[in-house]
Amino acid sequence: MTTVGTLEDAVAIYYQHADGIADDRLGWVESCNAGEDRTVYRVGDVVYKIPSRPTANPYDHRAQEEARRRGYRWAPAASTLWPVRDYLGDEDVAVLAMPYLEDDGTSPDPDSMAEMKAQSGGGVDGTNYVVISGQPIVIDFCTVRLRPE
Ligand SMILES: Nc1ncnc2c1ncn2[C@@H]1O[C@H](COP(=O)(O)OP(=O)(O)OP(=O)(O)O)[C@@H](O)[C@H]1O
Ligand SMILES: [Mg+2]
Repeated sequence: MTTVGTLEDAVAIYYQHADGIADDRLGWVESCNAGEDRTVYRVGDVVYKIPSRPTANPYDHRAQEEARRRGYRWAPAASTLWPVRDYLGDEDVAVLAMPYLEDDGTSPDPDSMAEMKAQSGGGVDGTNYVVISGQPIVIDFCTVRLRPE
């Protein structure tokens, strides 16, 4: 299984987010977009998602893993949940790492789009996928609803 990012970077981003203080090694990392639920930071070719509620990242990750297992073409190649120890030391926060995926401006292939909509349960809106060479790739699995096979 491919690992995305590192625990060291996940910890650095988590503490920058929590404290507003730049990490010595990474420097200040601008969020590449604040979603409703999560704040997303890009480090090289990886994004780290810092949750505001505990269930979002584990759900996203599990749904991604299952979509990959099924061979769905709209699933990103890999993702990793990094357990980051919170301040009080009695709880891990699940920070989600996945590849940074940039929309390349191509228009989505209608068949690929219809396939993604059908396989993902129809709830994925335009802010939660990118299009690369005509293929939609879902970047936020919180609204994905996989049906039993
Ligand atoms: N893998 C990625 N590559 C590039 N940009 C990303 C990636 N994941 C997220 N983003 C950017 O960050 C934004 C927020 O991410 P995401 O949708 O995962 O968070 P969220 O809080 O669950 O969002 P929502 O607003 O849908 O609840 C995305 O709309 C997108 O602009
Ligand atoms: Mg989203």
